[in-house]
Amino acid sequence: MRRRSAGTVPRQARTRLIDMRIDIVSLFPGMLETPLSESIPGRIREQGLVEIHLHDLRQWGLGRHRSVDDAPYGGGAGMVMRPEPVAAALDALWRPGATRILLDPTGEPFRQARAADLARRDHLILVCPRYEGVDERIRDLVDLELSIGDYVLTGGELAALVVVDAVIRLLPGAIDGASTTEESFAEGLLEYPQFTRPAVFRGEGVPEVLVSGNHAAVRRWRLAASLRRTLERRPDLLEERTFSPEERRLLDELKASSNDTSETSPGTTETPGNPSETPGG
Ligand code: ADE
Repeated sequence: MRRRSAGTVPRQARTRLIDMRIDIVSLFPGMLETPLSESIPGRIREQGLVEIHLHDLRQWGLGRHRSVDDAPYGGGAGMVMRPEPVAAALDALWRPGATRILLDPTGEPFRQARAADLARRDHLILVCPRYEGVDERIRDLVDLELSIGDYVLTGGELAALVVVDAVIRLLPGAIDGASTTEESFAEGLLEYPQFTRPAVFRGEGVPEVLVSGNHAAVRRWRLAASLRRTLERRPDLLEERTFSPEERRLLDELKASSNDTSETSPGTTETPGNPSETPGG
């Protein structure tokens, strides 16, 4: 692993001296190349914050046909991924300290806290299965199984892209630190609503407080807006979280006001504050 000299490290990245390495094993590495080369992921790679290596699983396939799958014991539809090619790939790529990850719909639901945890590691190896499933013994070869949601994809590649994208943007120096601390899920809450110009769009204004220049009032409004949006859209997130006294008070007020005025339906884009405070609204 390449070590940076302290003089070349951007200020935000000084606590981290070692770049991250990510290996992705797939039967379709071409599915991964472009999304990991464009836009922000491409820039993060160019900055040298992460090295990403794509590997064709077929090179570890068996026999003349480089086979990687077989029919399921006990019969049934589809093919099952054999364990030997995956084991050979992991043997070739693993180094001490590496985290081996299998993308699989039965895995741990992938969440922001896990993304933050993986962003602190030095070396990730992701295995993208195809076919109807993986031989159960493949699970013994990895450290972690991740699912990106309760639906079944045609393979692990899109899931690997989701995981890698969520992880690398958290690397120190990848993007503005404030963007990653104030965004949805970072604090266990959904992000507050954002507005930009024009001040009035199709008759809708922006909350007065945001143009007031009163930073303390903006912070309070945003916290209340985050709590409200989370309460309306993802109350499950609130059950898992502990609250500061200020948050607890705001939440109690929001709950009391939603009991008083039952017209606010979940999923609306309403924000805290009196609509009459909205210029042009
Ligand atoms: N492979 C197929 N579906 C998946 C999912 N939902 N998450 C991770 N890997 C998968």
